[in-house]
Amino acid sequence: MDKFIIKGGNTLSGEVEISSAKNAVLPIIAATILSGDKCTILNCPMLLDVYVICDVLRSLGAKVEIESKNSTVNIDTSNLSDNKPCGDLVRKMRGSFLIMGAMISRFGSFKISLPGGCNIGTRPIDLHLKGFKALGAKVKIDHGYVQVSAEKLIGDKIYLDYPSVGATENIIMASVLAKGETIIENVAQEPEIGDLINFLNKMGAKVKGIGTDTLKVTGVEYLHGAKHRPIYDRIEAGTFMIAAGITRSKMKINGINHEHIKPVIAKLSEMGMDIQLYNNGLIIDGRNELKPIDIKTMPYPGFPTDMQPQMMSLLSCVLGTSVVTETIFENRFMHIAELKRMGANIKIDGRSAVIEGINKLTGAQVKATDLRAGAALILAGLESDGETEIVDIYHIDRGYSGIEKKLGLLGAEIKRVKDSSLDEELKVKNQ
Ligand code: UD1
Repeated sequence: MDKFIIKGGNTLSGEVEISSAKNAVLPIIAATILSGDKCTILNCPMLLDVYVICDVLRSLGAKVEIESKNSTVNIDTSNLSDNKPCGDLVRKMRGSFLIMGAMISRFGSFKISLPGGCNIGTRPIDLHLKGFKALGAKVKIDHGYVQVSAEKLIGDKIYLDYPSVGATENIIMASVLAKGETIIENVAQEPEIGDLINFLNKMGAKVKGIGTDTLKVTGVEYLHGAKHRPIYDRIEAGTFMIAAGITRSKMKINGINHEHIKPVIAKLSEMGMDIQLYNNGLIIDGRNELKPIDIKTMPYPGFPTDMQPQMMSLLSCVLGTSVVTETIFENRFMHIAELKRMGANIKIDGRSAVIEGINKLTGAQVKATDLRAGAALILAGLESDGETEIVDIYHIDRGYSGIEKKLGLLGAEIKRVKDSSLDEELKVKNQ
């Protein structure tokens, strides 16, 4: 098991390249199930979550080639089967439940392990199931498994009680091969959903309404293979923007769609950071005196919950009082206890956290409790006095491709260390 050791206090400078979005790539890989032809994903980020969903597809009989040198993934799902077990892998990564919509579309029936909750919340799947049922599927939950089956999915009108990202994606994938027309209302409008729709339309699907709250899907008989380069990762970009703020540095970030990152640009500008946009990126200057702000997470185009922990690190070292309110996930404040170990002054009041900014954080031994919490701790470590040690960084590897290398090139002192004592401990436990 690896850990990060960070020596804080360095100013960063230079340029960083943003990878493709994890949250776009995962549903796109799931969507390859819909065609029996070969699909190619270009510029695919080499992330733990990508490896896991590729393993899920392999376990179902797909041929998946990952060319890490040129970041390309080739997927051939012609020999896929619906009766191979992939339960453990699905339990390992919640996002792999995204294969359900595509599997029932292609095979009419599929059974997998129910995804569990995770550190940030219970994360139910009722809206996914509501959508499948509306398309005529039968849903059976038994002994920790969910089985969805339908002789033929038939288009209908579906209203989502909440604009869930995963439910929107799963229902789109279930409806592209359904008979007739499906209207999905109150859908999530995250850019990654638009990217999935663009991929599906390249495969021959007929989905309209990208970027609106209503999607119209006209079912087709067959989808062919396609080649796609997913959109840039707006959350990785936002994390580097905060790295500039927290280290009071200036840097250039390449690979940003400005529209996708509007709320982060707005909030960092409000704090006093200077942001200049250019074609495909931006130059961000965090050397001004920064002001405290209030933030409330909301579905897109609101402020993303996936940027909340990183913002909390930044606000912890901006003098004055800031309030951060989390409305999407009920338990997404796990990073606060870790930030407090680094000296942050944060009090939780229900769904809000009140932050009294201090001059400087101090390095400490901390634990990444989930992906974005881990990113927040890296950022705090970059600012801190002394050394910060972050354990359980596999969470960070799920969603950031070579973050220590990218930060290192900008001048940060961060190294990945193999903790062999932890590996030994695990070995003993597993014996
Ligand atoms: C996706 C993202 C994740 C991001 C989240 C919110 C991926 C792989 N993950 O997760 O990084 O943090 O969107 O932007 O894209 N809910 C229900 N019933 C459901 C489904 C969801 O009540 O059937 C609730 C959840 O508990 C949560 C809220 O809806 O409170 C948002 O969840 P959702 O949008 O579904 O997030 P994910 O798709 O899991």
